[in-house]
Amino acid sequence: MKYPLASTTWDEAEYAAIERVVRSGVFTMGAEVLTFEQQFAKWIGSNYAVMVNSGSSANLIAVAALMFRKTGALKRGDEVIVPAVSWSTTYYPLQQYGLKLKFVDIDRDTLNINIEQLRSAVTENTKVIFAVNLLGNPNDFNKIKEIIGNRNIILLEDNCESLGAVFNNKQAGTHGLLGTFSSFFSHHIATMEGGLVVTNDEEIYHIMLCIRAHGWTRNLPKRNLVCGEKSDNAFDESFRFVLPGYNMRPLEMSGAIGKEQLKKLSQMITTRRENALIFTDMFANHPWIKIQKEIGESSWFGFALVLSEDAPISRSELVQKLLLNEIDVRPIVAGNFAKNEVLKWFDCTIHNELTNADYIDKNGFFVGNHHYPLDEQIKYLYSLLK
Ligand SMILES: Cc1ncc(COP(=O)(O)O)c(C=O)c1O
Repeated sequence: MKYPLASTTWDEAEYAAIERVVRSGVFTMGAEVLTFEQQFAKWIGSNYAVMVNSGSSANLIAVAALMFRKTGALKRGDEVIVPAVSWSTTYYPLQQYGLKLKFVDIDRDTLNINIEQLRSAVTENTKVIFAVNLLGNPNDFNKIKEIIGNRNIILLEDNCESLGAVFNNKQAGTHGLLGTFSSFFSHHIATMEGGLVVTNDEEIYHIMLCIRAHGWTRNLPKRNLVCGEKSDNAFDESFRFVLPGYNMRPLEMSGAIGKEQLKKLSQMITTRRENALIFTDMFANHPWIKIQKEIGESSWFGFALVLSEDAPISRSELVQKLLLNEIDVRPIVAGNFAKNEVLKWFDCTIHNELTNADYIDKNGFFVGNHHYPLDEQIKYLYSLLK
């Protein structure tokens, strides 16, 4: 039996959507992307959504937007708290905008930022907490907000792995000022490459519309919070640049595919949660493996497993065994990111010790979850681990 890490969520509907775009002759960002953004914002419960060409770009545009606000803009050297376990492109935009990262350990059970370590890491210098919802698991935003209290700290969410997760009856990605999403192949929805940022803040929305496309005014509403009022002279306005931006526009096909994926999303998440029930039931009392502890309602990107200190087998032996038996397996995201050579380019500090990040780096792994029933695969995994 094969137990893959990821599988396609496409059927004829996505291919028909691509064909519709091909027939229209409009390939770059247009009406399909705009409709998808509006539908996505509604689904998630946010005022605005901006689609870009990847989750990494979503993180980049989110951080960039915070540098260009009229009031309360971040400045180079400002401190941002991050969990030590996430994907590389959670961190890179912070480095690229000259922000100072403070790595904080994770919780060994939930795999999200360790709340007590976070509490002691926050100082009067902290400007942002960049929370990451790991492998579908939302953070405890009550506790994070309680730590923030009435301090002037921006809460950002990297929700690239956790579309559909819910905490306190509110979608993950909507608990802070901005939330980011990825629609890369292996994620909850797939436009193959793609990402989104959601926010309720109109100024940030306008800034993102501008820096997504060349930093020009063309995609801004006539009255907007970046340049005020645009002129009626289309020629003058066509190449008017107001912010240092990028070209992160998605293709029109990605918007059309996104619309189809969104129709299936609730059902796909329901099935992922049904699979999780089977997985958590089966592994709850495993003698030498611990599984990820759910906070709120996870959308179960995959199933993380961590070997206990007294496990009778090493991780490398175990991984070998799983691969030989055609079970795909990966490390828990990037493990302890702070161990990487790339850190020599960062202005950063490590808060206390990264003991748990190190532990899961050496002893953790995850297997896939899918939008179809996995009873057989999970039983197969369990029997192999026995
Ligand atoms: C936590 C996290 N942030 C950002 C990204 C980047 O998303 P993308 O691959 O769409 O660039 C990923 C990718 O999986 C991720 O896991």
